[in-house]
Amino acid sequence: MTNSYMDEPSLPSRVLLGPGPSSVHPRVLQAMTLPVVGHLDPKFFQIMDDVGEMLRQVFNTSNHMTLPISSTGTGAMETACVNILEQGDTMVICRNGFFGIRLADIAERCGAQTYTLDVPWGKPVDVQALEDELKKHPEVKAVGVVHAETSTGVLTPLPEICELAHRHGAVVIVDAVTSLGGHEVRMDDWDIDVCYSATQKCLGAPPGLAPISFGPRAMEIIHNRESKVQSFYFNLKDLESYWNQTRAYHHTSPISMTYALRESLRMMMEEGIDTRIKRHARTAAALRAGLTAMGLELLADEQYRLNPLTTVKIPEGIDDATVRGQLLNDFNIEVGGGLGELRAKAWRIGLMGESARETNVFALLSALEMILSKIDYEVAAGASLSAAQRALVDFEN
Ligand SMILES: Cc1ncc(COP(=O)(O)O)c(C=O)c1O
Repeated sequence: MTNSYMDEPSLPSRVLLGPGPSSVHPRVLQAMTLPVVGHLDPKFFQIMDDVGEMLRQVFNTSNHMTLPISSTGTGAMETACVNILEQGDTMVICRNGFFGIRLADIAERCGAQTYTLDVPWGKPVDVQALEDELKKHPEVKAVGVVHAETSTGVLTPLPEICELAHRHGAVVIVDAVTSLGGHEVRMDDWDIDVCYSATQKCLGAPPGLAPISFGPRAMEIIHNRESKVQSFYFNLKDLESYWNQTRAYHHTSPISMTYALRESLRMMMEEGIDTRIKRHARTAAALRAGLTAMGLELLADEQYRLNPLTTVKIPEGIDDATVRGQLLNDFNIEVGGGLGELRAKAWRIGLMGESARETNVFALLSALEMILSKIDYEVAAGASLSAAQRALVDFEN
């Protein structure tokens, strides 16, 4: 009898056009094969410093505490909440999708009194409604908001929300998991107090690290807490002693993932952050034009559409699993299904990081046209491709 785990691993090289992970450039994969050094090796400290410096550029901040957490994005959500909140604190969370729900859940688990501002899925946060909610909670300590809702494809503008929260004496925790590196995130200019992301989306590294940054108000709260942070792993004060010049051991750093993040950030610096953001906008414009030309309806309000992720309503009578299964099996392309209330009702198409390329847009559109036309959905052959081409030309003009 043979054990399957002894078989040669044969994994296809997928075109990752889902909500993350996105495709990883060979340079980043190559970086992961560098020799593993110790997490207290001076050579590794240099790499940590490089990562911190480049992350500050991407977050547009001078915050000293800007570092990758050893986890995926959810761990950064926990890090933000567990360090800011103490038992009985009040937090208002804007929920316009699946990840707002998760943020509220995590805040509640920290012992906070949570109040949620629910917004229909597909819409951005309603600033007036948030103001009305904040007026009800004079003791509010934190406001949580998801910048780029990956479940709906909506981008919520942040400056007004930050100003409002601060007027009410609250710090702002921002989820920028899907926006960082794909949209502008200006932590200092917009006065965001805590902002976190993840490596596997627009930053272009594999999943495994979650960049986060804490501003002065947040650090003051952390340094003046009355109670102990209930998580050992995500306790920022201890992480600070490893990431500042003390270099005190806290936990073993994911060395190879840190190499990968450094390489992906270097690639971003070479390309230019603004150029990369523009690339996300350009490919998204082409994708939307192509999908619309196919007669498909986009879910998010036009002026609030995310560039790294586009949500498409699945037409009546079309089976979600069949289409996504054929994309994966026949064309090697992964796209995402709907989450929560959008399950089986929407496709989530990601053009993030290395995946945000024109060639991927054309590959997906032609594959989707072929699949849909075979299952009696009427599409004019090639219409989506010429619409995408026109959008690319228009984008440059
Ligand atoms: C907006 C948002 N927040 C948080 C997360 C959680 O990140 P992870 O799955 O890396 O833990 C995701 C994951 O897709 C996300 O899109």
